[in-house]
Amino acid sequence: MKQSKMKKIQSKSVDKTTRQIINNNSQMSSSVDYKMKSSGHNLKYNQSTQSVISESSIAKKGVIYEGSNTQVYRILIEGHFNYYALKISKVNMNKCTKEIYYLKQLRHPNIIELKHHYVIYDKTNDNRPMLYEIMPLMSCNLRSFLQQFYKHQNVQENTKVIDPKFINQAKQEKKAKQILFKLFIYQIVRAVSYLHHKNITHRDLNPRNVLIDVDSLSVQLCDFNSAKQLFTSIPSPNYIGERNYRAPELLLGSKLYNQQVDIWSLGCIIAECFLGKQLFNGTNTVETMADIIRLLGTPTLQEMKNLRSSILDLKMPEIPKFPMAKRFSEIENDQLVDLLEKIFVYDPNQRISAFDILLHPFFQELKQPNIKINSKSLPNLFNFTKEELQLNEYQTNKNRLIPNWFTEKQKRFEYLTTSMDDAKLLLNK
Ligand SMILES: Nc1ncnc2c1ncn2[C@@H]1O[C@H](COP(=O)(O)OP(=O)(O)OP(=O)(O)O)[C@@H](O)[C@H]1O
Ligand SMILES: [Mg+2]
Repeated sequence: MKQSKMKKIQSKSVDKTTRQIINNNSQMSSSVDYKMKSSGHNLKYNQSTQSVISESSIAKKGVIYEGSNTQVYRILIEGHFNYYALKISKVNMNKCTKEIYYLKQLRHPNIIELKHHYVIYDKTNDNRPMLYEIMPLMSCNLRSFLQQFYKHQNVQENTKVIDPKFINQAKQEKKAKQILFKLFIYQIVRAVSYLHHKNITHRDLNPRNVLIDVDSLSVQLCDFNSAKQLFTSIPSPNYIGERNYRAPELLLGSKLYNQQVDIWSLGCIIAECFLGKQLFNGTNTVETMADIIRLLGTPTLQEMKNLRSSILDLKMPEIPKFPMAKRFSEIENDQLVDLLEKIFVYDPNQRISAFDILLHPFFQELKQPNIKINSKSLPNLFNFTKEELQLNEYQTNKNRLIPNWFTEKQKRFEYLTTSMDDAKLLLNK
């Protein structure tokens, strides 16, 4: 068989495998494994173009992250000027391919873009298939940003160090600090709202899965290994996501949860940005649940039912609700308190939606023209994609999402580009 033809077939077979795994979640069968093993050795494929990227064209320039199943490197690719991130994971039939399945269908300014992916067979490890994903390189994750912002210590090695002058200025000026974190949070919520409108739940929202570019202050969500399209009548595992960001329905054993589990995690991230430390700190499920009860009070029987908990007869001491305003008094922001009150609600269906968070007055400040943080301009927060603007909720609330000054600016820009095109046409005549 001609080599080019063979490569195409191999590339397709990996893609087919991905689809098969998603469609047939319960059958992580050895036939899938067999297909991957039988499809060749040490060749890399860019699946979108089906061209081969030679292994020698990639130079690893440093380790960003080293986990038990995953390594992330900073790399240079021959012929490209920018650095990229390369994530290498063991091909776990369920986990890794899931990330590919979702990232391939997501196009959003606040979600990391998967540039290329391919499978390599690790000769040194029993020809084990390894998944390679190439993505734009971001400076750090939100956790290491917060570590630098609040402590200036314990900064992960290989993390881009943020300009201490920028941090100091933002810390000293209360307004700058508030805008900075509002900005980060708004971008995360934009991504989550987009996901939820596509019926995708991330299920692992935590500061390590939020990537930040410290130069542009733009934020992108990563790590779609746990993402899932949830259907309320189909049970899903509840041992998912980082414990202290897990919604109470998950901690209490519900298997019939919905996308509102992401909103809870989002609330934990928002609180952490402003407090400088994790909101809930349990070292096991019971402790985390106890932390939640100390803030929200003991759930009533009705709330327990709404949480679809598997443990209805749980004996819990009667603890009253702790006032949210008191818990966040040091931040001195009523709108933040109001937003958190709407997020930290036991009943998932009473919890505010991601889209409604976008419209919450807490973010109004970001919609003013010419906002800056220590003379740094903000990234574009209103570049809603065509896909988003076609959604009913976005369309109906377009005027509330996109400020007037931005629409006017866009119109002027469109007029300018059309005029320039017209001028070019005239010149060419
Ligand atoms: N594009 C990127 N640019 C910069 N850093 C990145 C990028 N992608 C991932 N990282 C870093 O690598 C870390 C791990 O990546 P990711 O969350 O995607 O893997 P993971 O599936 O959580 O790994 P594990 O299964 O070991 O927990 C992130 O927390 C982040 O710090
Ligand atoms: Mg992660």
